[in-house]
Amino acid sequence: MHVTFNLLEELEQTLKAAAATAGLADAAAFAPEVRTADPRHGDFQANGVLAYAKARKMNPRQVAEKLMAALPATLRETYDLTIAGPGFINFTLKPAVLLAWLQAHDSAEHLRKGAAAAHAGQTWVVDYSSPNTAKQMHVGHLRSAVIGEAICRLLAFTGANVVRDNHLGDWGTQFGKLIYGYKRWVNPEALAQDPIEELERLYKAGNNATPEGSPELEEARQELVKLQNGDPESYALWQKFSEVSLGAFQQIYDRLGIRFDHNLGESFYNDKVDRVYRELTETGLAENSEGALVVFHDEHPRFSRNAERPNPFMVRKADGASGYASTDLATALYRAEHFKADGIVIVTDFRQSDHFEQLFLTLKKWFAAKHYRLPELHHVTFGAVTGEDGKALKTRSGDVIKLKALLDEAEERAFAIVSEKNPELSETERREIARVVGVGAVQYADLSQNRSSNYVFSWDKMLSLEGNTAPYLLYAIARIHSIFRKAGATPAAPETEAAATVFETPTELTLARKIAKFPDAVRLAGETLRPHYLSLYLFELAGDYSSFNNADKVLVDDPAVRARRLLLCARTLLILESGLGLLGLRTLTRM
Ligand code: ARG
Repeated sequence: MHVTFNLLEELEQTLKAAAATAGLADAAAFAPEVRTADPRHGDFQANGVLAYAKARKMNPRQVAEKLMAALPATLRETYDLTIAGPGFINFTLKPAVLLAWLQAHDSAEHLRKGAAAAHAGQTWVVDYSSPNTAKQMHVGHLRSAVIGEAICRLLAFTGANVVRDNHLGDWGTQFGKLIYGYKRWVNPEALAQDPIEELERLYKAGNNATPEGSPELEEARQELVKLQNGDPESYALWQKFSEVSLGAFQQIYDRLGIRFDHNLGESFYNDKVDRVYRELTETGLAENSEGALVVFHDEHPRFSRNAERPNPFMVRKADGASGYASTDLATALYRAEHFKADGIVIVTDFRQSDHFEQLFLTLKKWFAAKHYRLPELHHVTFGAVTGEDGKALKTRSGDVIKLKALLDEAEERAFAIVSEKNPELSETERREIARVVGVGAVQYADLSQNRSSNYVFSWDKMLSLEGNTAPYLLYAIARIHSIFRKAGATPAAPETEAAATVFETPTELTLARKIAKFPDAVRLAGETLRPHYLSLYLFELAGDYSSFNNADKVLVDDPAVRARRLLLCARTLLILESGLGLLGLRTLTRM
């Protein structure tokens, strides 16, 4: 049997062709709008008839009937078709087709073919994590790292060429005070032990010693000027700060499974901001305002010069220094020119929304004026991390929680749970499981919620074996592995799967149908840049699997039934493992 990898795409094309064959007026304008359907109605649904018929004052049901009649015979062999309501067309895969589809989708590579999204073949730069150097990553940096990595994996799986760029905050006025503190009070042992801790201490000491108006502050300013003018000693110090910071960040990234292609921090753009000043001035976009170079957007209520509290985009400060806006403008140009980016995604919390709105408005005008090709621009925002009381997550003493401490605690808590459940495993095994479960729980709790909401942090919920959690899904995976161990079989063994007969029981059919929706779920998550769509799908899949597992015994004597049930187990396993992998989690074969 011929198996199509991209079912939605095929339906879309076939319906468009049918509109022409059926002789519908203005057939080229007909958009079928095929979507995954509510499972009660079928597998897919074409929603486009209504809008098309309405706009042309036609009867939508008649249009749907004409379309149905014009569909090729092969499509009728693939689907059961019905017209519902005023003109929705429902498509339900025939069980034999479903079986063939499952048999053909025996690897992540094959699943990936059906998931190709609108951005397939394009280059997308993703700017995420992007912490400031010489400072600890705290819990606020968790979301950018976790969401950004999931987005990278989703974009890559759906066909994009992804460039992972860590846009470090490695330049700015804080380095004057840090160098001031470093030169006076550095403790080399502490620096070797825990470099970021020591740098934070030195910055604080430098900051305390340089109050507003003091001669000490003037000294710290001179340190900054020296650094900016490329003084070798200052520069060497600054480089050291960047190196040790990146080394410490990498320890966190390793635990989260993150590898950047580039760490092009703000400092990388030092020699690239002059072009920004020049071009924005010569195109008339930027203007002088009290010595600073600024851009107003008069069409925008808040960024217009007539706004109640004018808030222009500050391209160059009055003292001539560059800032966040200048580097971000230079960064976008570099990504467009050097990486030939078709899309740029920047992942930060929602509080930076105004900045990126102004940045994107400015880029649109600037690139249009210079005839540069403008990449698709996305500011991917997320809410705050809060405790269950809705307040910002803090330590008991009221400090921000360091990311390292948070991941350590996740592993400790997971270790306690694993030890209680599996006292017979060796400590090494329990530690390894706890690493995967603990860090995975933190990642998954973030990714399973709509990123626009606050991330309500609850150890008990995220580590629970029930509900939409990492432990629940990881446990489902481990249980499927144990079925294969018990059967003495390997998942996705071709001979077994070829012997499978058509699915019969309601729970087999429901599970098989859900499995065939994986490519759509990934594409949706990739195109909307919202990983929670995939997470929700995985949770529902695990639920359908568990109903199947309760209703239908897998290891029965009848070889054909056993084969088709093992096929369902193997595909559920493949999808749960691939899906969690796309969210950045590691998985286990035992738990
Ligand atoms: N360093 C910034 C911060 O910690 C985030 C940078 C995001 N990326 C960007 N291109 N502005 O808030």
